Amino acid sequence: MKEVILMRISQRVQNRIDKYNPKNGLAYVAKFLLELSEINHDGVTRHSEGVALLSEDVAIKLNKDSKAAFFAGLLHDVGKIIFPHKLFDGHNINADEYAEVKKHAVAGFRALSKLYRFTGLCAGLHHNLYKAGYGIEIKDFPKEWGLATIKKVLEISMIVSICDFINAFTTRDTEIKDGSDNGVNTLEEMLYAKYPEDKFIVDVALKENEKYLN
Ligand SMILES: [Fe+2]
Ligand SMILES: [Fe+2]
Repeated sequence: MKEVILMRISQRVQNRIDKYNPKNGLAYVAKFLLELSEINHDGVTRHSEGVALLSEDVAIKLNKDSKAAFFAGLLHDVGKIIFPHKLFDGHNINADEYAEVKKHAVAGFRALSKLYRFTGLCAGLHHNLYKAGYGIEIKDFPKEWGLATIKKVLEISMIVSICDFINAFTTRDTEIKDGSDNGVNTLEEMLYAKYPEDKFIVDVALKENEKYLN
């Protein structure tokens, strides 16, 4: 039963990629990276699909660029591909392993940003929009970019970051390594503490995520 559901989600993602028909070969690159990730990191692929669909839903509700949110969600963890499967096999990782896992944000940024700068920046930022986060910083933005473009990257990255946490929390059994669950009990409380200035996005994302829970 579980596999039928997963296959249906994969088909939805394929359909979305084709529907959006992105520029500069991003459809092929995204499909290739998902297939590559599937070989050794099928859990990462499932998670990426889930984050992409939820990010798209949230962006639509917030009147933001749903195409940008979908592809940023789809490729936000692409940097994990270069790390060994054992880091993402569902066991509770130790501090050394967590230090390795943290490198995936910058790895994703480096892999994507020459070809797909917007999506690459979102990959680099998705863990750095909350306290004790990690990844790239504002100084890594292209110097020639105007404020409007930078604002859009931050908005889409915030949607992806929140959807990432929701998908991870609702689909994984492992403990949270960044301390988000200290002193709080519910997913909503965790998200409010983690994203105190973006509670509205949190509310929309939690509501949209209800349809993926079964
Ligand atoms: Fe990540
Ligand atoms: Fe993620």
